[in-house]
Amino acid sequence: MNEAADVSALAQVLAQAIPSAETIGTFSLPECLAAMRDLCMYIGSLKRHGVSAFDIIPDATVSFELLGRRTHMIPRETVYHYTCWNPAGERERLYTGHQMERSLIDSVRACVPDLARAVEVGRSLHEERPGSPAHADGLASLASDIAAADRAMTDVSAEVTPEFFAHKLRPFFEDIHIAGHRYMGPAAAHIPLFLIDLLLWASDRGSRAYSAFCREVASQTLPDWRDRYAEWANAPSLTSRVTAALGGARSPAEAEYVQSSAESLRQALRSLTSFRGKHLVMARRAYRTEVRLYELGSGGGSVDLLQEILTLTKQNGSMVGSAAAN
Ligand code: HEM
Repeated sequence: MNEAADVSALAQVLAQAIPSAETIGTFSLPECLAAMRDLCMYIGSLKRHGVSAFDIIPDATVSFELLGRRTHMIPRETVYHYTCWNPAGERERLYTGHQMERSLIDSVRACVPDLARAVEVGRSLHEERPGSPAHADGLASLASDIAAADRAMTDVSAEVTPEFFAHKLRPFFEDIHIAGHRYMGPAAAHIPLFLIDLLLWASDRGSRAYSAFCREVASQTLPDWRDRYAEWANAPSLTSRVTAALGGARSPAEAEYVQSSAESLRQALRSLTSFRGKHLVMARRAYRTEVRLYELGSGGGSVDLLQEILTLTKQNGSMVGSAAAN
């Protein structure tokens, strides 16, 4: 249907598939998530052909809002529906059916569990004091988990062309409006890297633009991660806490643990810098004037913002390195 730009067939299938409020009431939580994932393939497809499903099927609003409420998420698919909760292989839900779309989904699907583990470790780091063995161990495991983002980007750079993304896939991720509210598509920008940044450096060493971006991304994420956002967005970052502790250790053992935390923190920031370097190359190519169809990314940010986040990540990494060396 997408290949043929068959808007009336897309609209017909969607209209027939939308469950009533009564039926949604019988769904389990996984069934609600699955319904949102599948129905939104039609919402994004119609949007790609210039049609708002909510204008042509007014009854749709109630069902999507209900599915959103049941799952405590926005009334649209998120990056999690489109990747982690999308089965690989024959049953994979795809907008284009193209191998490059599969590769992009696969890379995100592969890295989110590691990032989720890093967020869990982050919770304990938030409680622990730099200078304790638990803090040093936690940061070491967090640094190793977030390397998954860099690996995912290496795969995408090798397997997906910027032109495929810009021309074939990006149009399916365009914003939609439901009952006057704007919702973004399933952008990779919404994976929990923003939370890890807030924990590591961005809560008190970021920028106004990145803070605003994180706030917006938080609304598109999982309920538990919205709680983490509320806890971490304004708390002192690990960069601030570890660099302060570097000068104030009370014993040689404590000094050693602080050094170990600082080394893992630097490694984590280096890994994020490496991810962002590769990612920026891809984003620049996909959003250069001759190629792009849209000025902004599907996550609502610009390529300039990506450059700013990269610079800040690098600066914080260097700062931790110099503080640890003194
Ligand atoms: C063809 C591939 C890609 C392009 C053209 C692209 C482009 C962009 C753009 C323009 C942004 C700015 C914010 C926005 O989305 O509106 C962005 C943000 C972001 N993207 Fe991508 N992206 C791609 C693939 C990926 C992949 C595979 C991942 C993760 C594995 C990813 C993760 C992120 C993250 C976490 C952000 C938030 C900013 C940051 O953390 O630096 N992107 N991307």
